[in-house]
Amino acid sequence: MWFLSRPSLYKQLMREIISFVKRKEHPTLSYSEEAVSWCIKNACDEEKALLRIDPSWNFLDFNQEFPKLVKDGFKVIESFNFNWGGQGNISLNYCLAKHLQAERILETGVAYGWSSLSLLAYLNRMNRGSLVSIDMPFWGTQHEDKIGCVVPSSLRDRWKLIRLPDRDAIPALLKKNLSFDLCHYDSDKSYQGKIWALPRLWSTLREKGILVCDDINDNLAFKHFCESEMIDPIIVKTYDSQVQKFVGIALKN
Ligand SMILES: C[S@@+](CC[C@H](N)C(=O)[O-])C[C@H]1O[C@@H](n2cnc3c(N)ncnc32)[C@H](O)[C@@H]1O
Repeated sequence: MWFLSRPSLYKQLMREIISFVKRKEHPTLSYSEEAVSWCIKNACDEEKALLRIDPSWNFLDFNQEFPKLVKDGFKVIESFNFNWGGQGNISLNYCLAKHLQAERILETGVAYGWSSLSLLAYLNRMNRGSLVSIDMPFWGTQHEDKIGCVVPSSLRDRWKLIRLPDRDAIPALLKKNLSFDLCHYDSDKSYQGKIWALPRLWSTLREKGILVCDDINDNLAFKHFCESEMIDPIIVKTYDSQVQKFVGIALKN
């Protein structure tokens, strides 16, 4: 019923049915010990990761840099009776955008919009550029109007939110031959979702641009993507709502 009342997602429904029929195990069993140990072996913290990219880097904590935006964001979500997760990689995103002097940014996966907030706060401070975000609501979710809700209206002028699945939105962007300075992938976390999307996002990145991929410990997609493109990634150990996770950073030479 959820899909049927959303005609823009009919194609995605077909993909979900095909992937359900083809799958060999339940997605929750797809935890990959190999991916976790690869991450642990190679990881550093956010500050060290940024210093590897730029040795003169001064780490900025988004919460300290923009306390009002963060406080207002939490105020918006505190009354909700659903939970779409924590703040994600807001400081890392902000720092990478600043390092790149990014003007054209693409992200997949919005939910409350913490990552969008961090990137839009950067663009707003620079007074230039734009952010394209792609998000298809989680199956069964009834609160689509809350997607991106922590982003205040004062930051929305530079924002284009595409409410479609990656598999419809990304090819449409590729057709436009757009090029981005920074891409942040935080939508479909399955192996198939990532291994399909990452090379496509990579192809939209300009030279010296940066691709960030969240939750790379879930499966081997990011590792396999890096191997196929001969990328030596930076792996960041970080925390979301106090749960340890790993984020991958790939620099395009
Ligand atoms: C982890 S949340 C994103 C969190 C966000 N980046 C932040 O920092 O607040 C993942 C989001 O991706 C969306 N999503 C999941 N699968 C998707 C797909 N195939 N295409 C587009 N969006 C998808 C979910 O509905 C959810 O809103």
